Amino acid sequence: MNKIRLGLIGCGGIANYHVDHLLQMEDVEIVAAADPVMTRLDAMALRTGAKRLYKSHTELYDAEAATALDAVYICIEPTAHTDTEYRAIEKGWHFLVEKPMTLDISMAEDIAARVKARKLLTHVGFQDRYLDIIEPIRAELPKHRTGIVYGSWVGGIPMVWWWLKKSTCGAQLVEQNIHLVDMLRYFFGEPQSVYATCSRGIVEPFEKDGIAYDTDDHSTCVITFKNSVTATLFTGCYADNGFEHNGLTIIAKDMTIEYKLRKSSTFISKAETREYRTSVDQGLTLDRTFMNAIKSGDGSLIRSPYADAVESLRLALAANESMESGLVVRFK
Ligand SMILES: NC(=O)c1ccc[n+]([C@@H]2O[C@H](COP(=O)([O-])OP(=O)(O)OC[C@H]3O[C@@H](n4cnc5c(N)ncnc54)[C@H](O)[C@@H]3O)[C@@H](O)[C@H]2O)c1
Repeated sequence: MNKIRLGLIGCGGIANYHVDHLLQMEDVEIVAAADPVMTRLDAMALRTGAKRLYKSHTELYDAEAATALDAVYICIEPTAHTDTEYRAIEKGWHFLVEKPMTLDISMAEDIAARVKARKLLTHVGFQDRYLDIIEPIRAELPKHRTGIVYGSWVGGIPMVWWWLKKSTCGAQLVEQNIHLVDMLRYFFGEPQSVYATCSRGIVEPFEKDGIAYDTDDHSTCVITFKNSVTATLFTGCYADNGFEHNGLTIIAKDMTIEYKLRKSSTFISKAETREYRTSVDQGLTLDRTFMNAIKSGDGSLIRSPYADAVESLRLALAANESMESGLVVRFK
């Protein structure tokens, strides 16, 4: 294969994060890009040298021949996913899509089935699976009996328009803390049930660019797993106060493991205290892994293919469902 030819659908914040990595790769070429926001599209063209520029994903799919691209990066807001993935599948293009891939679980299931039928390579942006501090935890856990896990993702409000409303971001658990939801599945396997609550009233009402803040200030969810682990996750966007305890605390019978979000993992037992600190750019590893998979046709090293990510999405959306109904959601 010559250079891998990529198209970008969405040229906002996370697209630029991936581009930071892709521009370091000599075997990758960004040839096309789409975004209705012209300033973003122009800036992306300048950064990447992409010559074929489009005002929407529809224009890009209409104009580009199936043979013109190897893959697309779909980096758009959670409710902008319409036929964006379907058309990539029709073209036979591999794709990376950012989490949460949609707020509609039936759509995600359908896309996963079509990806499987076409044997396409996919990656979802659960970048934390590539942190070098995560593998020691995965290696340690099978040696211990774990009971209680608690964790948090608490901070301020990202000021992008779609984040301000639950209807367009899915709320913070689905949009942000889904990284820890996914990590729990990566550590402990599939869940049995979830129960969640949410609350408002701490963030004072405000508007930005005519959009009123209308999402949960915080939520708490309790997830039981099939192996007797119960995890409680706290999520909050009302506390832009420098809170430094985000991550997970895993209490095993004879060891406590502290995962400090994207910073370190510490193993504490009566015999020892051992600490690992992050030394890799996990996003770069993710993008390189996906490019290697496209080159070789072998997706076995992709840590978050679409079908797996659907299960993390299912869990996060079920927590939202529980917040609305006040009931426990049980999984098969
Ligand atoms: N993996 C991570 O760690 C991580 C980090 C940040 C954001 N994200 C996710 O990435 C997604 C995007 O977030 P962002 O911060 O980049 O948002 P953003 O608002 O900065 O960028 C989204 C861009 O998509 C464009 N867009 C929307 N619909 C389009 C369409 N049909 N065709 C072409 N372009 C279209 C918008 O105009 C906008 O420029 C969200 O789902 C978010 O949760 C993931």
